[in-house]
Amino acid sequence: MTSTAPTAPTVQIVSTRPFDGQRPGTSGLRKKVTVFQQLHYLENFVQALFDILPEQVGPLAGQTLVVGGDGRFHNRVAVQTILKMAAAGGVGRVMVGRGGLLSTPAASAVIRKHGAYGGIILSASHNPGGPDGDFGIKYNIANGGPAPEKITEAIYARTRDITEYRTLAGAADLDLDRLGTTTLAGMTVEVIDPVADYAELMQKLFDFDAMRAWFARGGRMRMDSMGAISGPYARAVLEGLLGAPAGTVVNGEPLEDFGGHHPDPNPAHATELIAAMSGAGAPDFGAASDGDADRNMILGRDFVVTPSDSLALLAAHATKVPGYRDGLAGIARSMPTSQAADVVAQALGIPAWETPTGWKFFGNLLDAGKATLCGEESYGTGSNHVREKDGLWAILFWLNLLAATGESVESLVRAHWKRFGRHYYSRHDWEGIPTERADALMAALREQLPTLAGRRFGALEIAQADDFSYTDPVDGSVSSRQGVRLILAGGSRVVFRLSGTGTEGATLRVYLERFEPADGDHDRPTQDALADLIALADTVARIRELSGQTAPTVIT
Ligand code: G6P
Ligand code: ZN
Repeated sequence: MTSTAPTAPTVQIVSTRPFDGQRPGTSGLRKKVTVFQQLHYLENFVQALFDILPEQVGPLAGQTLVVGGDGRFHNRVAVQTILKMAAAGGVGRVMVGRGGLLSTPAASAVIRKHGAYGGIILSASHNPGGPDGDFGIKYNIANGGPAPEKITEAIYARTRDITEYRTLAGAADLDLDRLGTTTLAGMTVEVIDPVADYAELMQKLFDFDAMRAWFARGGRMRMDSMGAISGPYARAVLEGLLGAPAGTVVNGEPLEDFGGHHPDPNPAHATELIAAMSGAGAPDFGAASDGDADRNMILGRDFVVTPSDSLALLAAHATKVPGYRDGLAGIARSMPTSQAADVVAQALGIPAWETPTGWKFFGNLLDAGKATLCGEESYGTGSNHVREKDGLWAILFWLNLLAATGESVESLVRAHWKRFGRHYYSRHDWEGIPTERADALMAALREQLPTLAGRRFGALEIAQADDFSYTDPVDGSVSSRQGVRLILAGGSRVVFRLSGTGTEGATLRVYLERFEPADGDHDRPTQDALADLIALADTVARIRELSGQTAPTVIT
């Protein structure tokens, strides 16, 4: 024995005090990086999680956790912190993606495939990254999906009275860049290939031969990973397994600040892709994904597909894809998502579910076999293959349809409208409203609710006005105050809610939808087609007056 032998790490108990505001939002705890960099901030949250899990879920000791993140700034630091705390907390094994990386859908796939107890995902999704950007942490349960509110509320309650956390003293950081297994104070740490399990799952769902043939025939695609985590997945699947030409994936290197991109795949932020998809020389198929690779945007040449239409179209064509050949059990959409999917569900004779915003609400429906496909207006689409929305999955679904039908993106969508009618749809975001003003606006709107039904605004008449409330058909839990809905005679809708994912001030989202029947005019510019609803929204909610702003900051 020499005196230089490393001493074994020991469990260290650190005293701490609660931080305000550690309540997880729509999708985990999201704050500025600088907030997470405060001494004990992340530790408090992680310890609160470990403290409540045994009671909420079952014993954690000896169990397997999956850990990984979207690679944004602070990801590596956070992973090392979590590994030490997990070891100190008696976790048996952690599976962590190489480099601390795992896309959100891949984390869900790994949890499910390996029967893990749960997983910790580090991401602020589509919010900008870098030292001045955002960071986030969320917990997913054994089904691979986001923890339900019962758990996130328990975590929050625990963060209010936390006094200490456990970590390791004398433990060096682990090498996360080499695949393989090591131990940390008795806990097994397995560094896994972040792509392998996910790519294997995709091959079970989609017709890889048909998609390979599409590329071999000269089909051209541009996949914009926006400097974020979908890059390695898209390269491995598209350029690797499917033989797409090198360069099909652009911005494919995951960077800590996303290369300055705002990795939110919508027409307002993915401007590079929109430009590349316009004109005669543009590729046939364009797609983008967000910071943690769970969102998707679908484009044809000079043609943008709304997420609501995308869900409806995938549902209508699902049986053309191997993984869904036997049909769908049901389709679920978040309340603000357009009713296009409901029309398809009706035609297919299957249930259409309407849930509050937040992917976690789909979990029970999927687990219970009540829905197969799910989608949200916020560029999220997914199925029962995992319990998160899945960007590359949606993109492969579209590619599989292009390959199976020989049609273009635009011709598929136009044919869909001709058959089911078109739901003109747009979302207007009013970002950075001072929180008190935004709260006052919503309060004023809610106050008016009892008086709105029957009121006329020009040619429009409000048939129903309410605050959406959801009773989960599986566990009976009730989520109320999920957004104010104005439903007009004829089925058009205006929906108002405050974003649950922002980190600065409040964001008012106004969702606008108008139905045009199958034989109607499908060629109007969207904002024109919605003009009277836009005016109605401002009149009823007094948006300009109460927000203090003159126009929405983002229109998608
Ligand atoms: C995240 C969630 C989605 C949700 C979206 C918008 O991406 O995973 O389920 O639709 O945020 O949330 P927000 O509250 O900002 O409208
Ligand atoms: Zn995301």
